[in-house]
Amino acid sequence: MSNQTVEYSATAQLLDGRVVSLRRLNADDAEAVMALHQHLSDNDRYYRFFTLRPVQLDELVSKLTQPAHGQYALGAFHADRLIGVANYAVVCDDPKEAEFAIVVAHEDHSLGVGTALLKHLAQIARTRGIVRFAADVIGDNHLMLRVLSDLGWPGKPQYYGAVRHLEIELPECLTEPLPATGSSQGA
Ligand SMILES: CC(C)(COP(=O)(O)OP(=O)(O)OC[C@H]1O[C@@H](n2cnc3c(N)ncnc32)[C@H](O)[C@@H]1OP(=O)(O)O)[C@@H](O)C(=O)NCCC(=O)NCCS
Repeated sequence: MSNQTVEYSATAQLLDGRVVSLRRLNADDAEAVMALHQHLSDNDRYYRFFTLRPVQLDELVSKLTQPAHGQYALGAFHADRLIGVANYAVVCDDPKEAEFAIVVAHEDHSLGVGTALLKHLAQIARTRGIVRFAADVIGDNHLMLRVLSDLGWPGKPQYYGAVRHLEIELPECLTEPLPATGSSQGA
């Protein structure tokens, strides 16, 4: 009997007509993940990491491409180029809640990559028993806040100065059917 498992894979059409493939990141993607994060604009780096200083990326790259139990990173690829990553990590004291983060290459913003990544990541999380996503978002990160509000997922923000802490209830199923997902490493 084969012990091979089917890993998640899907496609999404962007607003400019391009089709991206969505799949779980793995160790072979380390270079691409590094390149995506190294080329962020100052603004995008600030929104993603809350700092304008250069970020130590080695640890992040390992976390995204060799996830521990309870962690998952989904990449969006166009013609083999990684253009976005959304990931979650289950919080220690509540296996039903996960913190998520997302970043899309600047030149590919506002085309639907972020929305597609989050929708699919939410569906994957749901199949793994996660019912709630949490994130800290800087209050003037209008694009991120709009993406979340357009998704229409219920949640109450809490305000901590310039930062909004969001807890979002994930829908049980999305309107569009998603392909079957299998599991391999991680939860
Ligand atoms: C925030 C971020 C992830 C959003 O990703 P994105 O790919 O630009 O977002 P999308 O393209 O999915 O959504 C942007 C807009 O397109 C709209 N949109 C997306 N898919 C659509 C579709 N199929 N049809 C119509 N509109 C769509 C969204 O509703 C949103 O609304 P707007 O047009 O009013 O702005 C991205 O800007 C980014 O990487 N920012 C820097 C890092 C960051 O802020 N991370 C968040 C910290 S956790």
